[in-house]
Amino acid sequence: MLMLNKAAGVFYKPSRRKTYEFLRSFNFHPGQLFLHKLVLGIETSCDDTAAAVVDETGNVLGEAIHSQTEVHLKTGGIVPPVAQQLHRENIQRIVQEALSTSKVSPSELSAIATTVKPGLALSLGVGLSFSLQLVDQLKKPFIPIHHMEAHALTIRLLNKVEFPFLVLLISGGHCLLALVRGVSDFLLLGKSLDIAPGDMLDKVARRLSLVKHPECSTMSGGKAIEHLAKQGHKLHFDFKPPMQRAKNCDFSFTGLQHVIDKIITQKEKEEGIQKGQILSSAAHIAAAVQHTTACHIAKRTHRAILFCKQRDLLPQSKAVLVVSGGVASNLYIRKALEIVTNATQCTLLCPPPRLCTDNGIMIA
Ligand code: KG4
Ligand code: ZN
Repeated sequence: MLMLNKAAGVFYKPSRRKTYEFLRSFNFHPGQLFLHKLVLGIETSCDDTAAAVVDETGNVLGEAIHSQTEVHLKTGGIVPPVAQQLHRENIQRIVQEALSTSKVSPSELSAIATTVKPGLALSLGVGLSFSLQLVDQLKKPFIPIHHMEAHALTIRLLNKVEFPFLVLLISGGHCLLALVRGVSDFLLLGKSLDIAPGDMLDKVARRLSLVKHPECSTMSGGKAIEHLAKQGHKLHFDFKPPMQRAKNCDFSFTGLQHVIDKIITQKEKEEGIQKGQILSSAAHIAAAVQHTTACHIAKRTHRAILFCKQRDLLPQSKAVLVVSGGVASNLYIRKALEIVTNATQCTLLCPPPRLCTDNGIMIA
């Protein structure tokens, strides 16, 4: 946990005693007395402006979200100053909407929690300065939130998951495997050495011009790939999963993206079409890239499970693997992970899609 030194305007890591004092002052104990403790969560780390009000028992009182996907699809990726401007235009309305659907007035809040890292600096800044103003006006405690920790812990709103458990976060901006030993006790086991899988799928979808495909025009890149893959054959192209010999749990997606880029250029030549037109083999490419991505993610996760079990970091049976992030909504990738968890006597848990992607609830 980080605390804010308001006078200096900086965050610091408090001593354990100070942390307990802070939590006690905030009345985070179980019991009826605290049923009305309400936290407003604000998320602006990337391209979603989101807010929610959650009580301390995990009840979601209300939420609101504004997605910038449509705008970024048109520009072919997130342009940070554009994202910043859109957050600025929407944050007040979204927070207001979250409060009014919750039927909660600002003065009834117990605290304001906001994502402070990691993310796009310009986007994070909008949520942070809005929150600090609110904190100042309302004289409420401020809880800085680590975006990845929030993703990892969200499952506990829905399932009774005991520590330790393994978490795999796969989205457009994240790719990591970590052992969750406590609310803020994480052991990082592996991460992407370059880009995240969602970023790679978005780039492939853009290169295939899937926004021009009548069935995929409003879908994110990853979702468009999943949709089109159903019409293709996964073994039509033989893409090798990356890092097969690396004895660790890291990931890599840039090499695969370049291989696919080359294939697309070659196919465009063969079919005599211009960049920007849809290839006849687009569905086969989508199926192969989805299959290779799923294999890579599943293999690295398998290594992490075996490593944790060998070292007694996870229970030998019924260990839990939580998978979250936008890419976790891909059913083909989930199936591949299910094969791994079945083979290792683990339980696979995925939050529902609306909690897998960025949202205010996970922050609150
Ligand atoms: O978690 P998220 O909403 O935002 C962050 O990146 O933090 O994830 C968005 C990413 C995008 O890259 C999108 O293409 C990918 O998740 N995605 C998918 C699917 N739906 C969204 N990837 C694969 N299959 C899907 N069904
Ligand atoms: Zn996220």
